Amino acid sequence: MIPTPDLSHLTSRDFDKVYEPAEDTFLLLDALEQDEKHIQAQKPNVCLEIGSGSGCVTTMLAKIVGATNAVFFTTDINSYACQVTQRTGRYNHVSTIESIQTSLVESLLPRLSHAVDILCFNPPYAVTPPEEVGSHGIEAAWAGGIDGRQVIDELLPFIPQLLSPQGIFYLLLINENRPTEVAEIMRTGYNMQAEIMMERRAGRERQYILKIQRPV
Ligand SMILES: C[S@@+](CC[C@H](N)C(=O)[O-])C[C@H]1O[C@@H](n2cnc3c(N)ncnc32)[C@H](O)[C@@H]1O
Repeated sequence: MIPTPDLSHLTSRDFDKVYEPAEDTFLLLDALEQDEKHIQAQKPNVCLEIGSGSGCVTTMLAKIVGATNAVFFTTDINSYACQVTQRTGRYNHVSTIESIQTSLVESLLPRLSHAVDILCFNPPYAVTPPEEVGSHGIEAAWAGGIDGRQVIDELLPFIPQLLSPQGIFYLLLINENRPTEVAEIMRTGYNMQAEIMMERRAGRERQYILKIQRPV
């Protein structure tokens, strides 16, 4: 069992500016842990987390893959999250994280075309007024606009271009995002395989991990 990354270097002042790991984060960690052997067998070279926040997920992924066995890219629209991601990595002896402040994968394509072996995203998924989407501060952690899908839907068209032939995408969703509809979009619109691999109730939310990859 891989221990959850140590975040004791972060204080409540940090969490005023960056998303504090919560049940959604832990569901994503559990999905990675469940697939640990499969991920290791795949020997990933390039891992990417979009919206890395505290850096907890990427640090855990680096522990699974081996910190020096791959390059770990992260993006976040919030510059403070990029700094904190690096700090969390170093605090947990992972110094191979490259954090980039950008929206989704804007500054990584076409460079990373068909190169990403493991992709993770715990997106801003809350249903909010559409005009709340697009902040560069802490609000970006949750504001998902209509159906909580605005940021998610913006990313979906890039998935086939990003993933390597054996690449896997772990995407966290909640009920309001209509996970079965997202899976159907990936199947029929982008010819990908998509299945709900985990689900869990967290307070009033029902959370899901959608696992997306090319058909075998
Ligand atoms: C729910 S938080 C998840 C943080 C962290 N990955 C975790 O699981 O604890 C969503 C993150 O996505 C980032 N984000 C929101 N919109 C984004 C965008 N367009 N591009 C990149 N990151 C974005 C937020 O700043 C926030 O850090």
